[in-house]
Amino acid sequence: MNFQELILKRQSVRKFDKFRPIEEEKIFRILEAGRLAPSASNSQPWTFVAIKEPKLCQSIAKATFTTLVNFNKFAVNSTFFVVIVVEKSKIIAQIGGAIKKRNYPLIDIGIAAENMCLQAEEDGVGSCMLGWFDENKIKELLQIPKEKFIGLVIPFGYAAVNYPLRKKVRKPLEKVVRWNKY
Ligand SMILES: Cc1cc2nc3c(=O)[nH]c(=O)nc-3n(C[C@H](O)[C@H](O)[C@H](O)COP(=O)(O)O)c2cc1C
Repeated sequence: MNFQELILKRQSVRKFDKFRPIEEEKIFRILEAGRLAPSASNSQPWTFVAIKEPKLCQSIAKATFTTLVNFNKFAVNSTFFVVIVVEKSKIIAQIGGAIKKRNYPLIDIGIAAENMCLQAEEDGVGSCMLGWFDENKIKELLQIPKEKFIGLVIPFGYAAVNYPLRKKVRKPLEKVVRWNKY
């Protein structure tokens, strides 16, 4: 699979096979892909809390549900979670971010998250980034200090058998690219 094929193949998987755990070496590669991500001033402002203990996975999954719109229920069948905690950047990136009014750490963790999801996909493992979760509950479950900020929760797992590869729904290139001026 070349890189373009990988990008087309990665999709948010919302039906995991709960009976098929992810192999250790694949879990390692996912975490390593996050670790190797670029970041502003090479600050690496992240901690990846990795969870594969089945009961804890269930509890994390439940903390991503909402009864409002039946959201994120699929996470309950995930066999491996990464919770990305946003850490402080190096002082140089903090100063730069304050002067330039940029939230570099949030950009950084987004890149690390996509690195992990693409690595997972290359190994045949599905994922879905979750931005909707009960932050306090997850902090409590994982003993994350209250003052920290959780950026993303990512459930991983093998997609259920016959899970379809969806066509990418994206704005056309002409809509998102402007040449030489806004
Ligand atoms: C920051 C972020 C937060 C997201 N939060 C959720 C979520 O809480 N639940 C969910 O089902 N999908 C979530 N997604 C997945 C997006 O819905 C999905 O990436 C988008 O619809 C494009 O589809 P694709 O990933 O299949 O290409 C999130 C994605 C990102 C990048």
